[in-house]
Amino acid sequence: MCGIIGITGDGEAVEILLEGLARLEYRGYDSAGLVLGSPDGLWRARAATGTRSLGDLRKQAEGAPGACAGVAHTRWATHGHPTEHNAHPHLDCSGAVAVVHNGIVENGQELRRRLAAAGHRLASDTDSEVLAHLVEEELAAAGAGDPGGDTPGGAAIGAGGGVTTGGEAIGAGSPGGVTTGGAAGGAAAGSVLAGALRRALAQVRGSYAVVVQWAGDPERLVAARRVSPLVLGLSAGGAALVASDVPALLGRAERFWVLDDDQGAELVPGAVSCFGTAGEPVAPRALAVTWDLEQAQKGGFADFMSKEIAEQPQAVADTFLGRLRADGTAGLDEVRIGEDALRAVDKVAVVACGSSYHAGLVAKLAIEHWARLPVEVDIASEFRYRDPVLDERTLVVGISQSGETVDTLQAVRHGRGLGARTLVICNVVDSSMAREADGVLYTRAGPEIGVAATKTHLAQLAALDVLALHLAQVRGALGGPDAGRLLAALGRVPDLVAEAVARAGAVLEVADRLRSARDVFFLGRHVGYPVALEGALKLKEISYVRAEAYPAGELKHGPIALIEPGAAVVAVATRTPLWEKLMANVEEVRSRGATVVLVANDGDDETASLADAVLWVPPTEPLLAPMVDVVPLQQLAYGVARAKGLDVDRPRNLAKTVTVE
Ligand code: AGP
Repeated sequence: MCGIIGITGDGEAVEILLEGLARLEYRGYDSAGLVLGSPDGLWRARAATGTRSLGDLRKQAEGAPGACAGVAHTRWATHGHPTEHNAHPHLDCSGAVAVVHNGIVENGQELRRRLAAAGHRLASDTDSEVLAHLVEEELAAAGAGDPGGDTPGGAAIGAGGGVTTGGEAIGAGSPGGVTTGGAAGGAAAGSVLAGALRRALAQVRGSYAVVVQWAGDPERLVAARRVSPLVLGLSAGGAALVASDVPALLGRAERFWVLDDDQGAELVPGAVSCFGTAGEPVAPRALAVTWDLEQAQKGGFADFMSKEIAEQPQAVADTFLGRLRADGTAGLDEVRIGEDALRAVDKVAVVACGSSYHAGLVAKLAIEHWARLPVEVDIASEFRYRDPVLDERTLVVGISQSGETVDTLQAVRHGRGLGARTLVICNVVDSSMAREADGVLYTRAGPEIGVAATKTHLAQLAALDVLALHLAQVRGALGGPDAGRLLAALGRVPDLVAEAVARAGAVLEVADRLRSARDVFFLGRHVGYPVALEGALKLKEISYVRAEAYPAGELKHGPIALIEPGAAVVAVATRTPLWEKLMANVEEVRSRGATVVLVANDGDDETASLADAVLWVPPTEPLLAPMVDVVPLQQLAYGVARAKGLDVDRPRNLAKTVTVE
C-alpha cells in the first residue's frame, strides 16, 4: 500500500505534492519522492530515511524549478529494499518518463528480464520500475520517443476546459470539464502518452494504480488503475489532480471522481478525461466528499481498526498474489531458501508473540497435516530460555508483522546461533528481522495503524498457508487433486473474508450483550483454539474485559469450575472434524447456566439451536477457516470497546511494536 498524488495546472504544484504526501503517510512512509515537469524537462527528488523521508524531500524540493505539474509518491515497500534507488518516481532509460505506482506487478521479474535483454538499464530492484520502461518502449514504437520532438497528435484539449477527443465535455464552459461516456465505441480517445500507458499495462499482470508523466508533454498526467485505488479531482482554479485517496485532495479539489478497475484518465490543466482499456471514453463515478482530513485518512471509517478490518480481503488477496500458481503449486520465489534446503529440514520451530503466535499455532496444524513435518511453536520470550534442541536441519520461522518485536528477534537470532535456517513472515520490508533472516516471506497488508492486529494477522495466516503448502509440495507430501483443491479453496478465501466482514452489523448487536460482561471464556478445538485465543486477545486488549481462551476439551480439567449462571462463553463451532466434541463442551457450559455465543457456518441450524447468539460465517476448508472465523471475533471485540466508549486504535498500556524485552 503506497500513496500517490499528481497535479497539473497549479503553479504551487510542489507544495501541493508535498502536503498531499504528508496526508498519505498512513499508506506508507519508508521513502518518498516527486517529479516536476516543465518545458526544461523532468526534475526528480527522492529520500529514503524512514519517517524522516518527507522532511528530507521537502528540503530537496527547495531547489526545485518552478512547475505547474508533477507526481509524488510515499512508499510502503513490497519489492526491493526501502532505499533511495528503490523510491518512486521511477524513470525510464532516457529520464523522460516518470512513473509512480501502487500495487504489485506479479510478472515483474519476467518483465525485468525481458527489458534488460532488450537493452534497458533498470536502476532499482523494484517491480514498479518496469512500468517506466514499458511506456518508454511504447512511446518509441509510436514514434514519440524523443521528447524533444513535436508532441504528436492525440487529445486536442479545448481551451477553457473540456476535452474534444471522443467524448463531450460536461460544462465545458465551467472551469474544467470531465468527459462523459461519449458515443459507445467512439474513436479511441487520448494522447500518445495515454496510448503508450494502455499498451504498457496490457503486458502487466497484477495490481496497479499508476500515474505517468513525460518530458515530451510535461503538463499532461496519465493515470490508470486495477485493484489499487485512484481518485480524481478538479480545483476551483482549474488544476487537475489524481491521488490514491481523498485525503490528498481535500481543500484542493472541489469536485471528485473515482476511477474503476481498468479505467484510466488524462489530466491536463483545466480538464480531466477518462478512458477504458481500449481507449474509449468512459464516465468516472462522481464522489461526494463531506469528510474532514482525519475522517478521510480513515476512509470514512470511525477509526483505523474498523478500516483495517475492512481491508482484510485485499490484504489476504495481495498476500496470495503471485504465490498461488496456475500450475497448482504454491510458490515462494522471493524466500531465498532453496527447495533442497527445505527438503533437508526435519523440524520447524515457530517463534512469535501475541496475534503472531496465534497465527503460528494455526501454521503448526497446517504444516504437520500437509507437509508431515514436526512443528514446535513457542512464545518468543520463552523460547531461548528452554534450551531448545535445534540444529542445521531445523527451520526457525519467526512471525512478526512489525519485524521489530525484540522477543521474536532474539528468538530468531538464538535459532540462527544454533545453526538453524531462519525464515521470517513479516509485513515490513527491511525490518530488523527481515534483514537478519535467511529468507523472508512478506505479508502484503500495508501499514497497520491500529494497535490491535487485524489485517496483518489474516495476512500472516495467508502467508503461512502458502508456506505450509510449499513445504508439502517440495517434500512430495502433497500433490495432485489434494493440492489443487486446497489452492482453489485458498483462492476463494478473500471473498469469504469479505462476506464475514460485511456482517459487522449483526455482530455489533451481539457485542452489545457482552458489554457489561466481567469475564468472557473463549473455547475452541483444533484450529478453533488459536481462533479462540485471538478472539480473547482482541477483546481484552481493546475493551479491557477479562477474557481467556481454553482448548474446549480442557474445561473439565479445571476451568469449568468458573462457569456459573450468566457466565459469557464464546465458542468457535464451525464444522471441523472435532465439531461434535466441541458441541458437547457447549452443552456442558450451557447446563451450568452460561450465555453462549457460537461462531457457526451459514445455515447450520443444529449448531445455532444451542446458542443464545450466533456469529455466522461462510464455510471453507477446516485448516483455512481461521482466516474467516476470526473476523466476527475481531468485530465482537471492536463492538464491546466502542460500546464502552474506548479508543480502539490506541488502547491503554499497549504499543503497536514492542521493542523491549
Ligand atoms: C495483537 O493485537 C497485539 N498488537 C500484539 O499481541 C502483537 O500481535 C504482538 O506484539 C506481536 O507483534 P509483531 O507481530 O509485530 O511481532
